[in-house]
This record gives sequence, C-alpha cells and structure tokens, in this order.
Amino acid sequence: MREFDEKSITAAVIERMAECRDPRFKQVMTSLVTHLHDFVREVRLTEAEWLTAIQFLTEVGKTCTAKRQEYILLSDTLGVSVLVITLNHPADQGSVESTVMGPFYWENAPDLPLGTDLSAGVKGEPTFYSGRVLSVDGQPLANALLDIWSGDGEGNYDMQIPGETQMKARGRIRTDAEGRYWFRSIKPTFYPVPTDGPVGVMLRKMGRHPFRPGHIHMIVSAEGYAPVTTHLFVADSQYLDSDAVFGMKRSLVAQFERHPPDERLNTPYYTVEYDFRLRPVQEGIAG
Ligand code: BEZ
Ligand code: FE
Repeated sequence: MREFDEKSITAAVIERMAECRDPRFKQVMTSLVTHLHDFVREVRLTEAEWLTAIQFLTEVGKTCTAKRQEYILLSDTLGVSVLVITLNHPADQGSVESTVMGPFYWENAPDLPLGTDLSAGVKGEPTFYSGRVLSVDGQPLANALLDIWSGDGEGNYDMQIPGETQMKARGRIRTDAEGRYWFRSIKPTFYPVPTDGPVGVMLRKMGRHPFRPGHIHMIVSAEGYAPVTTHLFVADSQYLDSDAVFGMKRSLVAQFERHPPDERLNTPYYTVEYDFRLRPVQEGIAG
C-alpha cells in the first residue's frame, strides 16, 4: 500500500500515465500536473480557495452558450490566448502579426466589391481603408481575401445591439490584380470585453479595467499563403497600452489621418493605409 505526502503525490499522478499511448498528450498532462501541483504548494491553497475556484469554473461553463464562449474570454483575459498565438504564429519572414480572434466573428459575411462601404447604417466617423496584400518578398497578391469585421464608432458590434439581426460593419473583399484593397467603414473606438459573467467578476476582483483599444478585425488569406487573423489598432486610441486581452502589437498600430470635408466627403473623415504581408505555406507546416 502506498500513501502520498505533499511532495510524492506529483510523481504518483504522473506514474499513473505509464500506459498512456499518446506521447504528446502524456507530455502535456505531465507538465500540467507538475505545474498545477507546484502552484497549489506555492500558494498553499486553502480548501475554501479550492472550492471558490471550482465554483468559478462551473460558472464559466454555465455562461457558455452557442453564441458566448466564456472559457475563451477567460483565456483571453489571462493572456493565454495571445501566448498560444504568439508561439504558433511567430511574425517570421516579415509576415503580418496575428492577434486574438475575439468572440464577434460571424462566418459567411457577404462578398462585396472593392470600394464597398461597410458602414451603411453604422454609427461612427467615416474612414477610408486602403493598402495592399503582398507576399513577404513584396510580390502583390491578387485575389487575396480580407474578411473584415468591427464594432461601430460607439464600441458595439452588430450582435451586441438589441434587436439588430443584420450583419453590420462586416464584409469580405478581394484584392485587385495589383494586390490592392480599399473599402470604407468607420473609425473604431475602444470598448469593454463582456463583463456580465464570471470573467467580469474576476476582472473587477483583480482591479482591472475591461477595455480593448479601438481596432478593426480581419482575416487575411491568399491561396498558397498562411492565413493571418489580425487587427489594425487606432494609433491614438485609449487603452493601447493596457489592452484587456493583451492583443495589442505595435506592428498593427495604424495612423488614422483626419481630413476636413472636401470633394470626397462633405463631413470630416479619416484615411488609413496598411499593407499586409503573408508568408507562403511551407509543406507539412500548418498556417
Ligand atoms: C474583440 O476584439 O472583440 C475581443 C477579443 C477578445 C475578447 C473579447 C473581445
Ligand atoms: Fe474586437
């Protein structure tokens, strides 16, 4: 008969995986058990704290629905999502950096022509976006796809607006023969991640604000190139230095240049220019 003390328990749990036939799973679980036990020993976790953690994770699970993933929000706000992204999508060869996907992506946004106005019915200051999609060695990528989504100029995504059933500020556009793209939308503003669930409780208890700096999302892809899930951040936005999900990357910060009314538009507007570079898919390596 074997019994375990506060040290030997760790090796005992790991030994029980001796028959595990999946080497990667075994490696991950061995490390997880080691770190979890070290954590419990380091903070000398009390039974009350253990129960609070169980209840918290139960609430996180109960908050998940087909439309809401509180576990991903937990991962985002603890910096785990961006750590996994950074490890798996290094900005190698000069390709555009990846950042978090967030919960507001809606598949099958409409395919729209170049120059389209995504801001129809959307509150916010008009902004003209343009640039190119290029390979890392500077070749223009024709027919590259930008799948674009953002909140409005008040920080609300279409799916957060009560009664809004239509897609707003979303669309898929393809580059022209020179790899160029251009479209109109709005200048996004900062907004909070959802705080009406257990992750909100955690953020408040941690003394943290829930805001993300203003940004527009896009997935940029082209045949034969690794797709990138990314954002453009508004250079003068609040919270650039304290993004609640740690997703801000300096290389993704874009200048929004303000223009007075002119022949293009009879109200003030912004322009942004940004080139996205993609790296070729290497055989045997996923994007
Ligand atoms: C967002 O960018 O929309 C977002 C990302 C992560 C968590 C919550 C929101
Ligand atoms: Fe967002």
